[in-house]
Amino acid sequence: MCGKRDLDTQLSGVLVDEDRIRERIAELGQRITEDYRGRDLVLVTVLKGGFVFMADLTRAIDLPLRMDFMSVSSYGPSPAHGQVRITKDLDESIVGAAVLVVEDIIDTGLTLHFLLKVLRQREPESLEVCVLLDKDVRRIVELPIAYKGFSIPDRFVVGYGLDQAGAFRQLPFVATLADEVMG
Ligand code: IMP
Repeated sequence: MCGKRDLDTQLSGVLVDEDRIRERIAELGQRITEDYRGRDLVLVTVLKGGFVFMADLTRAIDLPLRMDFMSVSSYGPSPAHGQVRITKDLDESIVGAAVLVVEDIIDTGLTLHFLLKVLRQREPESLEVCVLLDKDVRRIVELPIAYKGFSIPDRFVVGYGLDQAGAFRQLPFVATLADEVMG
């Protein structure tokens, strides 16, 4: 079993601390509140990584809204091939809804590109993206991002929902891993 102190020793640095995350989410929540007033807002996130951001973002939005969750997994020779399969679909219809996809991180963009294609076919009234962390230098496909938390460099990060082999999700900040943990 690893305690929080053990986790700390495996990190090389904090990239985005708790205060900056809290402030940025408050700003995003305010903008979303203004943009979606009077609409049938549904926030959709991708498990497991998106659950922490979803929990904090929804509480920064001062509107009635629904939440739904999906899971996807990559397959094929490598994740860069962008072959993605839905392993858990939405529970409810999004026909006519104002759908906001809430993502923890966008790297190549292939996962989200696939997801948006699938969701667009279900005839929402609108379909936008809110992402906390954007590794934009790694982008392979262009994506419309309406709301963005932070642009980050091309580093593997953990915490605030993001994992390495299932660990580190519960850290309240975004951090980089020590070299020996990266392997
Ligand atoms: P994409 O399809 O390349 O944009 O990859 C998206 C997915 O890869 C994210 O939803 C994460 O699950 C995972 N991912 C990409 N970069 C990182 C990272 O730095 N830390 C943890 N997971 C990451």
